[in-house]
Amino acid sequence: MTNPSGNSENFTLHDFYKISGSTLEERVAPFSDVIRDYNAKGYTMYSREVIGSPGPRVSVRDPLTGTIREMIMMGSNDYLGLSHHPLVKNRVIETVQNNGVGMGGPPLLNGMSETHRKLERALARLKSQEDSLIFASGFQANLGWTNALLRSGDVVIFDELNHASFFDGLAATRATRKIRAHSFAHNDLSDLEEMLRRAQEKRGADGQIFVMVEGVYSMDGDLCPLAQVCDLCEKYGATLVVDDAHGTGVIGEHGGGASDYYGVSERVGLSVGTFSKTFGVTGGFISASSKVVDYLRFFSRSYIFSAHLPQSIAAAVLTGCEIIHEQPELRQKLRNNVEYFVEGLRRLGLEVNSTSAIVPIRTPQPIDLRLLNRALHERGLFVNPIEYPAVSLSEQRIRVSLMATHTQADLDEAIGIIRDCGREHGLIAR
Ligand SMILES: Cc1ncc(COP(=O)(O)O)c(C=O)c1O
Repeated sequence: MTNPSGNSENFTLHDFYKISGSTLEERVAPFSDVIRDYNAKGYTMYSREVIGSPGPRVSVRDPLTGTIREMIMMGSNDYLGLSHHPLVKNRVIETVQNNGVGMGGPPLLNGMSETHRKLERALARLKSQEDSLIFASGFQANLGWTNALLRSGDVVIFDELNHASFFDGLAATRATRKIRAHSFAHNDLSDLEEMLRRAQEKRGADGQIFVMVEGVYSMDGDLCPLAQVCDLCEKYGATLVVDDAHGTGVIGEHGGGASDYYGVSERVGLSVGTFSKTFGVTGGFISASSKVVDYLRFFSRSYIFSAHLPQSIAAAVLTGCEIIHEQPELRQKLRNNVEYFVEGLRRLGLEVNSTSAIVPIRTPQPIDLRLLNRALHERGLFVNPIEYPAVSLSEQRIRVSLMATHTQADLDEAIGIIRDCGREHGLIAR
């Protein structure tokens, strides 16, 4: 079966595996057999065990031999290295010692700490919005706003490459409400405008139009042309929702992400984000006008019915906000690393580009992406293979994620490993 949508997130493995059997064991065994066989042969590299601190160099237990390998980590979303930043770690330790490890329930009923409230305000500043609310994850943030804000008669227009959490939020909401939903071709402004034009006719009497995009797209690291998207949303009276999981803290003059980069933060209706990338921990948030935030606190089921993040995590993210604000040189270092790395790969004859921290390397057929990834792993480079069915076979790629904490030696060594493995596997001419 082919990828049903040509989209990287809008399907599940259920679309590819026929699940049958009268017992639970029978239902799951065929998939389990396949994945175990692949793992035993070293053909897949999922869930590698990282030992110790997940910095730019990591120790990884080899899934085949069990030996521990020192590797260059270029498969992490911790773009600024905040997960192991000394200031972040100290604040977390301090907070755990003073305030314990959990909040005892969801914020609405069981309370939120001063640190959580400070963080909500800091995130609002980062996003040039009035207020924010914090979710247990970015996934839950997307479930939260869709469920809370979309009503029968609304039309939702979205980029076809949006994240799975948006699709799940939309699908769950559409199960009980009559909402029209249309995707537009990735970053295609004329397609978006056509959808907006049609939406004006199709929306219900008090229906609204929502446009949902991402700031930086995770598979290619490319940016959404947000200034033009804002123009279109204003022209057609649509509310713009931007999920900038991968751009927040990384790009923009103040580290506010793609909307900051384009100078349009004030024109965004809802800014969705996660703490699982640049902030190096877990959690998610939505920043918006204070009235929208007030409303979301009482109508987002994934906020109301899910426990609040520990104060230590809120302290880590709050410290991350301070670092993003006070140390723009970290973003500059990351940009320099990306430029240096991209240049190094181009010298090898690879066609690569990036405005963010993500550098995709296409691996056209007949290159066996899994074998190439295995080779990179064995030479000590940890990267993420993005394979079919996550993308179509012709779009398979190695996704390299850079950090501000990579040194030039890390970059040079990684380029050398890619050169050697690329030559062996037909990616780079000998
Ligand atoms: C665009 C986007 N939105 C949401 C998420 C989910 O974030 P979290 O890891 O906090 O659940 C991700 C994570 O991959 C993402 O890339």
